[in-house]
Amino acid sequence: MTKKSSEPIQRVTQLRSELEEHSHNYYVLDKPTISDEAYDKLFNELLALEEANPKLRDPHSPTQKVGGAAIDKFSKYRHATPMLGLQNVYNDEEMGEFCRRWEEAVGKDYSIWAEPKFDGMAIELVYEKGRLKVAATRGDGEVGEDVTSNVRTIRSVPLILRGEVPDIVEVRGEIILMKEDFKRINAEKLTEGEPPFANPRNAAAGSIRQLDPSIAAKRNLTIFCHGVGRLSDEVADSHSGLMNRIKTWGLKTNPLARRIEGQEAIKKYFTKIEKERDDLEYEIDGIVLKLDLFAHQRELGNVARSPRWAMAYKFKAQEGNTRLNDVIFQVGRTGAITPVAVLEPVNVGGVEVSRASLHNEDQILALDLKVGDYVVVKRAGDVIPEVQAVLTEKRTGKEKSIVFPTKCPSCNDKIVREEGEAAHRCLNIACPAKLSEAIKHFAAKRAMNIEGLGDKWVEQLLEKKLIKHFSDLYELKESDILKLERQGERSAEKLITAIDRSRDVTLARFIFALGIRLVGERTAELLALHFGTLDRLLKASKEDLFNVEEVGETVATSIVSFLNDTKN
Ligand code: IVH
Repeated sequence: MTKKSSEPIQRVTQLRSELEEHSHNYYVLDKPTISDEAYDKLFNELLALEEANPKLRDPHSPTQKVGGAAIDKFSKYRHATPMLGLQNVYNDEEMGEFCRRWEEAVGKDYSIWAEPKFDGMAIELVYEKGRLKVAATRGDGEVGEDVTSNVRTIRSVPLILRGEVPDIVEVRGEIILMKEDFKRINAEKLTEGEPPFANPRNAAAGSIRQLDPSIAAKRNLTIFCHGVGRLSDEVADSHSGLMNRIKTWGLKTNPLARRIEGQEAIKKYFTKIEKERDDLEYEIDGIVLKLDLFAHQRELGNVARSPRWAMAYKFKAQEGNTRLNDVIFQVGRTGAITPVAVLEPVNVGGVEVSRASLHNEDQILALDLKVGDYVVVKRAGDVIPEVQAVLTEKRTGKEKSIVFPTKCPSCNDKIVREEGEAAHRCLNIACPAKLSEAIKHFAAKRAMNIEGLGDKWVEQLLEKKLIKHFSDLYELKESDILKLERQGERSAEKLITAIDRSRDVTLARFIFALGIRLVGERTAELLALHFGTLDRLLKASKEDLFNVEEVGETVATSIVSFLNDTKN
């Protein structure tokens, strides 16, 4: 670190450039150069200086990445040059046909830029004199929406470009959500009783189209830049040269991109990327191939809405057709009833699929799904398979309507659907299915992390009436566990040790483990931070809860009713 400056203006400038550097290393290069605590310390110092010196505030400061005020609606944005689409090819023959046309136009001697095709949302970033002015969606290619307020919260989108840059730089890329974050967001949505997103692409697009930027800021979105629109100066004569340049400006590009030559190399690259697909942290659905030299691109030009110098070579769809044999209804921890499709097993992209999520009743109605229907199931990476559509042309008339239960499939108590909610719920607190899910949640890795207490054990412990509530876990003895089927002394001992070890957890994990409706991991953390001890949380009134960041009326009501329930 350089020497501290004493003048606020100098210190502010210095802090900004240090924070930008660390942020670039972390989010763009994936090479952290500072601990989170040290970063926060610098960040807070800058924040304090800016608050004390309003004149020094700047919309491009690193402190301004957290998301400003909500807006009413997005305004339209006309792209200076249209954002084109790609023509798709699906096999080596079609790919070869494309290459043949390239060869006809530019001769045998050409290089190709190859990179994955990201399954996200297309975006254009407009920088004027190195500063981010606008971020716009593709829209119809000519006119998109100005979503700057959301895009500026993305950590890998620099607000200021680095080094010498042309006055006008329009960069194009894809905004994506990591599979890991997609799972986390959907888990949170479920704990909050909201319908989950169907796939990471929808989650990314949904986040970018939120009017409140603080939501996008929390989603952990990222970007891969893959091209440019208008540049006020020429900076390269090839796509590979251009990508190298934009990388030096601090923009994030994809590390799997390569310059290659010839059809054999394309096939090899395609196979390699397809093999790596499931291990990647993000979704892709093919590769993109572009003629590398701009002179070659100009030679080919465009046809209608897509260039002749580029193609998308798509992976085989991870889709299959099969019959819907039944729909079963599962009861979750909060009592939400989830319909699950029971399918005639079908191989989708090398994995046998026999179950698929149907989310909720609205989804069934939207699909107009009936038992006996032939359906399209789609699998995306490690995301839960989904029923995509109904093949209505295959209907025989013998299909049966799906009747949503009015009684809980576990305890037979009545089910209700509350105003404004997507989910049906069983409200019986003693419902065995809810109990079992609540205990599984309590023991889960991200909650109390009781290693070895799997689903089968929980079910047996409940069945044998050895536990009725998760607190009973702490009364269990080795002799109790030995009463369960197929449990030896060693595993009994191990489980007791694991339960014992879980007594020592952070308050945040414990609050999360309680399974209070609408209290996900994040809210649990904020509650722990605010109250500090369990005692203080237990004594909290609704008004006290309102003082906790991000806790509003519904969450506070849910917490209070949980805490006041003697059974808890
Ligand atoms: S290059 C002339 N490269 O696919 C078009 N596009 O149908 C230049 N996409 O909406 C696009 N990954 O946003 C390019 N590596 C990649 C891509 C990519 C995804 C999207 C793009 C566009 C669509 C084209």
